[in-house]
Amino acid sequence: NEDSSVEKSKKKEDRNPVCVGREDDIKKLRRTTVVIHDREVVVFYHDGRFYALDCRCYHTGGPLHEGDIEDINGQPCIICPWHKYKITLATGEGLYQAINPREPSPKPKWQSKGVKQRTHRVTVDSGNVYVTLSDTDDNIESDHYANIHNRIILPPK
Ligand code: FES
Repeated sequence: NEDSSVEKSKKKEDRNPVCVGREDDIKKLRRTTVVIHDREVVVFYHDGRFYALDCRCYHTGGPLHEGDIEDINGQPCIICPWHKYKITLATGEGLYQAINPREPSPKPKWQSKGVKQRTHRVTVDSGNVYVTLSDTDDNIESDHYANIHNRIILPPK
């Protein structure tokens, strides 16, 4: 019906690349936040690469743009400042440490919980940085906090 085709074309538009700033500026700042089609996104520049993710942590909406970046198992991760969840910048996977109690001397190992934070595509053209919102329709936990008009974030106690 008409409504759903309008909805679909709107969705397509939402997936056009959107300019989020000058390459030089974002490289200097190392991080910036933008609202793209009502979605709050953080763009990081880390170790020569740009990354874009939903800005609000999938756990309870913590501000990822205020977190530190650490390398875990060779993957750059943002550490949420609220409860220290670790999220890979490139894929949005939540990482946790697990031990195998059957091992003789169990040592914690990093494991993935799967994709929890939606990541978006970053491209650079003529000195401008563009973000294209993710085009997967799968539900990803960070979707819950991503829309600036449609979310409830309770800061940690
Ligand atoms: Fe990010 Fe809890 S809100 S770890």
